[in-house]
Amino acid sequence: MQITHLLLNLAYLQAAWAIPAPDYSLQKLLQIPAGHPAELLGQQPISRHPPFSPGHRDPYDHKVDSVGDERQPLPFRNGDGTTVMGPRNRDRERQNPDLVRPPSTDHGSMPNMRWSFADSHIRIEEGGWTRQTTIRELPTSRELAGVNMRLDQGVIRELHWHTEAEWAYVLAGKVRVTALDLEGGTFMDDLEAGDLWYFPAGHPHSLQGLGENGTEFLLIFDDGNFSEESTFVLTDWLAHTPKAVLAENFRMSPEQFDNIPKSEKYIFQGSNPGSIDQEKPRTFKKSKINFTHHMHAQEPLETSGGRVRITDSTNFPISKTVAAAHLEIAPGALREMHWHPNADEWTYFKKGRARVTIFAAEGNARTFNYMAGDVGIVPRNMGHFVENLSDDEPLEVLEIFRADRFRDFSLFQWLGSSPRRMIAENVFPGDPKGAEEFLKKIEDAEKDPIRDTI
Ligand SMILES: *[C@@H]1O[C@H](CO)[C@@H](O)[C@H](O)[C@H]1NC(C)=O
Ligand SMILES: *[C@@H]1O[C@H](CO)[C@@H](O)[C@H](O)[C@H]1NC(C)=O
Ligand SMILES: *[C@@H]1O[C@H](CO)[C@@H](O)[C@H](O)[C@H]1NC(C)=O
Ligand SMILES: *[C@@H]1O[C@H](CO)[C@@H](O)[C@H](O)[C@H]1NC(C)=O
Repeated sequence: MQITHLLLNLAYLQAAWAIPAPDYSLQKLLQIPAGHPAELLGQQPISRHPPFSPGHRDPYDHKVDSVGDERQPLPFRNGDGTTVMGPRNRDRERQNPDLVRPPSTDHGSMPNMRWSFADSHIRIEEGGWTRQTTIRELPTSRELAGVNMRLDQGVIRELHWHTEAEWAYVLAGKVRVTALDLEGGTFMDDLEAGDLWYFPAGHPHSLQGLGENGTEFLLIFDDGNFSEESTFVLTDWLAHTPKAVLAENFRMSPEQFDNIPKSEKYIFQGSNPGSIDQEKPRTFKKSKINFTHHMHAQEPLETSGGRVRITDSTNFPISKTVAAAHLEIAPGALREMHWHPNADEWTYFKKGRARVTIFAAEGNARTFNYMAGDVGIVPRNMGHFVENLSDDEPLEVLEIFRADRFRDFSLFQWLGSSPRRMIAENVFPGDPKGAEEFLKKIEDAEKDPIRDTI
């Protein structure tokens, strides 16, 4: 009995940390992408044991991509911790290796900073759907709320307006947008993946999916308490106005409104529109405002470790309350240690997998993992970085802010711009050699949003 028990336990333990058969190559153990200079290896801690096993040691807390490497995280860290005996959600644990085994530098309590759209309720309508991440799903999502919406070919998100301003990023397909400005000018445009729109608060607008499969996009509203259920919808208003008044307003007779929808349509199947020229109303007066912007047509800022595109009111003037940066983080690279002085960051992970540690002062820090379709929050002024976890999937991220300008402070640039003597005494007391090497690295430091770490 005892022996059987022991054997079962052994089998269980083996299954728990040895999925799949561990790859003992140095490359894999240290999570070092191929092609790194050999001398770097000498500086890495060497553990003969795979991550998440009792024998594993990593005093430097290297990243582990448990999804990509198909490893099952377990709470073993540098000789401490043990197995999980109770019920568990293995998929969620694999998605959160840095929650199951936090880096040894994490400390204190911090509210949750992660939500996946996969955990949001989906409202299904004719030919489309919508799901949201607001302060109700993620309590730290205070400044902004996000909505992920899909409209199939010809499907319309009906004419509506709302109390909040709306910013959007097209994720896939094609979409026709229409809006009215305060001077009575009409705006119409067709957008594709990587394009943006912005409708100031209260401005009426509509959206329609174009092309074979319509469209999908991310909407951002400049209030975390926004609800996609509480917009001002045309058919809702008409259905709740006495028909006698509709008759007076439109100079018709009340019975001519007998067949209007009895409640809001919200999302519904429409017919395929003609070209913008064909669809112009007779009184068409072209708006003098650009409500859209082609973010991906922008020349990117090339950094040592990837590409950045920043869109805010300096290059998209109407977007007064939302600023954004699109990042492509290159092999082995790091979105450098930085913070944002003017707004909370609402991060949307578009591709790949990432590790982010948020530093909240007073010794508090917590690490979160994110993958495509996840939302992260970094409250303003809290220091953080974004590390590309995957070995094979590119990492693409949108940093979004309730602000007119994108603003950040780079740790690297700050230290390089400070008196060298002070940095040496501050960070390397009693270690002149370390100080000298460090000072050499931050000489002529410029902001480098995504840093190649080699
Ligand atoms: C539309 O979706 C179908 C099914 O997913 C796919 O096979 C087709 O390539 C898509 N067409 C376009 C233009 O993306
Ligand atoms: C959020 O909105 C709801 C409904 O409008 C309201 O009852 C609630 O007080 C609001 N919460 C905050 C924090 O503004
Ligand atoms: C709108 O943007 C286009 C380029 O995308 C530019 O050529 C045009 O001048 C802009 N119009 C206004 C009114 O800003
Ligand atoms: C993320 O890093 C891996 C290697 O660590 C690389 O293969 C992948 O291409 C990177 N992502 C991007 C956007 O370069």
